[in-house]
Amino acid sequence: MTASRAIGILGLGTMGRGFALNFREKGVAVVTFDPNERARRAAAEAGLRAVADPAGLVAALPPPRCVLLMVPAGPPVDTALDELVPLLAPGDVVIDGGNSHWRDTDRRAARLAAAGLALVGAGISGGEEGARYGPSIMVGAEPDAFATVRPLLEAVAARAEDGTPCCVRFGPPPAGHLVKMVHNGIEYAIMQGLAEVYDLARRGHGLDLPAIADLLESWAAGPCGGFLLETAVRVLRTRDPETGRPLIGLVRDRAEQKGTGAWTAIEALELGVPAPTLLEAVQARSLSAAPVRAELARLLPRPGEAGPSGRPEDLEGALLATMIAAHAQGLAILAESGRERGWPGPRGAVARVWRAGCILRGTLLGPIVRAFERDPDLPFLLLDEELLALLLAGLADLRTAVADAVRTGLPVPVTAASLSWLDGLSSARLPADLIQAMRDRFGAHGFERVDRFGRFHDLWRGA
Ligand code: 6PG
Repeated sequence: MTASRAIGILGLGTMGRGFALNFREKGVAVVTFDPNERARRAAAEAGLRAVADPAGLVAALPPPRCVLLMVPAGPPVDTALDELVPLLAPGDVVIDGGNSHWRDTDRRAARLAAAGLALVGAGISGGEEGARYGPSIMVGAEPDAFATVRPLLEAVAARAEDGTPCCVRFGPPPAGHLVKMVHNGIEYAIMQGLAEVYDLARRGHGLDLPAIADLLESWAAGPCGGFLLETAVRVLRTRDPETGRPLIGLVRDRAEQKGTGAWTAIEALELGVPAPTLLEAVQARSLSAAPVRAELARLLPRPGEAGPSGRPEDLEGALLATMIAAHAQGLAILAESGRERGWPGPRGAVARVWRAGCILRGTLLGPIVRAFERDPDLPFLLLDEELLALLLAGLADLRTAVADAVRTGLPVPVTAASLSWLDGLSSARLPADLIQAMRDRFGAHGFERVDRFGRFHDLWRGA
C-alpha cells in the first residue's frame, strides 16, 4: 500500500478542527466535513477546505483515501461509517480517532474489511491542545493500513524527548483503543488520587487553596510531576472573573464520566486482574453523583476533631504510591490481554507512547520506560528495582494518609484501595482459605490443601 499525504477529516468539533490545523501545518493536504453548517463555516474562516457532504470529502481525496473520523464515540461512528462505506473504494482507510470501545472497533473493522476497506482504531490523547499541537496516538491497524496512515499520524503526533513520534501500532484494529481505554482508566485513578490529596490537605490539615496549590506545585519537579499535577495546580489557582472568588469553590462536586474508566474496570474484572485503584476511581465518580449524599450528610455523624498525624508534605509519598499502583494495574490489564489475545504489543512501547502528548505524560513514565528496557517481559511493574524503590519511598506516607483519613472521616477510596492492594499482594498468606472452605461447605466446590497435591472435599461438620 502507498503512504498517503492527504487526509479527509469528518467531524469539526474542537478536536477535529485542531487536528485539521495541525495536519495542514505539517504539509498534509486537508479536506474537512461536518454535518453542522456553522462548524463548516468556522473551518472555512480558519482557512480550511470544508466541503458540503461526505461525497465531496471522498471525491476530494487521492486514492488510497484516508478519512479521519473525529466524532463522539458510540452510534455517531456507525452513522459516519454508514455514510462513508458506500463512497469508498478497496484500499481506502478510515481512522476512528475517538474514544471508541475496542470491541466496537473490532466489529467495525470486520465490517469494513468485508468491503475491502481498512479501519484504523486510533486512541488519541492530549485533549484539545494535543490535537492542535501534538497528541499521543495509540494505533490499532492491520500492517498495510498502518503503512498508509503512518506518515500522516507521525507528522502530527507529539514527540518524546528523544525525538521519537508518540505514535505506535499495538496490533490489529482494536488494540489501539484498548491501550487508550486503559490510559484513561489510569487517568481517572490519578485524578481521584489528586482529589483525595487535595481533600486531605484542605479538610484534614486545614490548608487554604493557595497553600494547597503551593504544596502540589512543590512536587512538580519530583516523581509525581506531570500534566495532571500541573493541571490541578492551575485549577486551584484560578479565580472566577465575575466574583473574584477561587473558581474551584464554585464548581459543583459531582464528577461526570463518559465511560472509558468504567470500561477499563470491566476489562480488569473480565480478565481477572486485580485493579482496585482503577475500579475505585470510577466508583468515586459515581458516588460523588449519588443523590442520597445530601440527606446522609445530615443523618450520619462525622468523627470528632481528630487532627492528622502526618504532615501535609508527606501526602506526596501517598500520591506517588497511588500513581505507581494505577500504572502497575493498568499495565497488568494490558499484559493479561496480551496473554489472552496476543495484543496489545510490548508494554515498554505502551509506556513510551505515553511519554509525551497524552494526559498521563509525566516524570513517572521515565522509570517505567526504563523498567521495560531492562526487562521487556517484566511480569509485574513492582518487580523492577527502581519502581520498587520509588514505591517504598512513598509507602509509609501512604499508610499514614489512609490512617489519617479513616480517623478524620475523609473518604479516600483510591488511596486506600492502593494500600490494600499492596498489602494484599505482599501477604504471603491471605484469608482466602476461609472463602475456599465456605465455598466447599455450601457448594461442594472443592479446595486445594497446602500439605498435599490434588483437590479435596469435606462435609465441614463443625465441632
Ligand atoms: C485524553 C482524555 C480524553 C478525555 C476523556 C475524559 O486522553 O485526551 O482522556 O479522552 O479527557 O474523554 O473522559 P471522561 O469524560 O470520562 O472523564
